[in-house]
Amino acid sequence: MEQILLKGLDGDRTWHLADYVKRDGYAALRKIFSEKMTPEQVIDQVKKSALRGRGGAGFPTGLKWSFMPKNYDGDKYLVCNTDEGEPGTFKDRDIMRFNPHQLIEGMIIAAYAMGIKVGYNYIHGEIWETYTRAEEALEEARAAGFLGENILGSGFSFQLHNHLGYGAYICGEETALLESIEGKKGQPRFKPPFPASFGLYGKPTTINNTETFASVPWIILHGGEKYLELGRPNNGGTKLFSVSGHVNRPGNYEVPLGTPFAKLLEMAGGMRGGKLKACIPGGSSMPVLPGEIMMDLDMDYDSIAKAGSYLGSGAVIIMNDTVCMVKALQRLSYFYFEESCGQCTPCREGTGWLYRVVDRIENGHGKNEDLDLLLGMTDNIQGRTICALGDAAAMPVRSFVKHFRDEFQYHIDHKKCLVPSYA
Ligand SMILES: Cc1cc2nc3c(=O)[nH]c(=O)nc-3n(C[C@H](O)[C@H](O)[C@H](O)COP(=O)(O)O)c2cc1C
Repeated sequence: MEQILLKGLDGDRTWHLADYVKRDGYAALRKIFSEKMTPEQVIDQVKKSALRGRGGAGFPTGLKWSFMPKNYDGDKYLVCNTDEGEPGTFKDRDIMRFNPHQLIEGMIIAAYAMGIKVGYNYIHGEIWETYTRAEEALEEARAAGFLGENILGSGFSFQLHNHLGYGAYICGEETALLESIEGKKGQPRFKPPFPASFGLYGKPTTINNTETFASVPWIILHGGEKYLELGRPNNGGTKLFSVSGHVNRPGNYEVPLGTPFAKLLEMAGGMRGGKLKACIPGGSSMPVLPGEIMMDLDMDYDSIAKAGSYLGSGAVIIMNDTVCMVKALQRLSYFYFEESCGQCTPCREGTGWLYRVVDRIENGHGKNEDLDLLLGMTDNIQGRTICALGDAAAMPVRSFVKHFRDEFQYHIDHKKCLVPSYA
């Protein structure tokens, strides 16, 4: 199975430049300069690859890059989103810890493609090892002439800096992240205008996820079509899945998009105790799916969307039949309540209400009307907030109630749990 992001990372000190160079590191950048590829040709390869943003929304990367103004004399910025606060997601931190140069090379290529001279990597504030390694990697890249003025004698210059966040989930939302880099409170902006026209310091900006950038060197080195062929039409390449929960070997697995879920589960060592009851296929803000549906699914954006959920960030949360779905939702709802930035009313008030109603059902104080009340509240949140945190809070509630309504009803009727270990 071809690997792009994790290949060769079983050795020692893989995060160092020397190791990366042995693994074809910076060969894509050298290719661009030696073959005199134009920025348009680079973007064209990324478009052909059908690389979709790995941060959650799956937006086509080449298309996003083409939105940046071309004949523009002012400053433009490139930003990498290494905030990774979505529960269940732990892939970007492994890219940063074990393969940071691949991200740096991807960012340099992106900067070249969009004519950008300055970039920032926004790193989640609670994971110090990631930041330390990222700083060391930047130093190495600068010393070797891959970053800074006149890179490899090409005439192209690019400065890249790390920026340490403070651990707030909302700062993963791209415009809150920009506000945070600017030194302001990390709260999302109204869109439009989108970052491509009004981004960091009001200048045109492109923001991509860590895994998205780290996939770019392979695309340039081997060609966009080869990358596309690794996956499925419209779902190019490989994807890192963070598998957690009731499996024997939780961890990050890189597989081609379109790999059957059953195969991924097998790679993660199979179920740890009990049967597969449910799975959240794309990080905690995505709709949960029952085990029977998951076992027939392929892991790509389109197949999962057709089944009623999303691939999101690729965090696969596995739950066996010892899990109480009411308790699981209570925990998730608390997270969104805690992390709402409080800027808009439906999210600030709504996430609190969702949590309190699920909490009372879990604690035996549920009322008969509560399930419809919960669904009504999600209607009043979803699509009515400045950013997608509102949707992220509402979608789990809707899907848990839709697929496991009997279990919620049992809690209300009997004031105890249907699942024996919780009863
Ligand atoms: C509440 C919230 C949190 C988010 N957190 C992250 C995150 O931690 N990392 C990330 O890459 N994208 C996150 N996103 C998505 C970003 O806003 C943005 O779409 C993404 O960084 C774009 O990169 P991509 O096109 O490469 O996926 C989040 C979105 C929302 C609404």
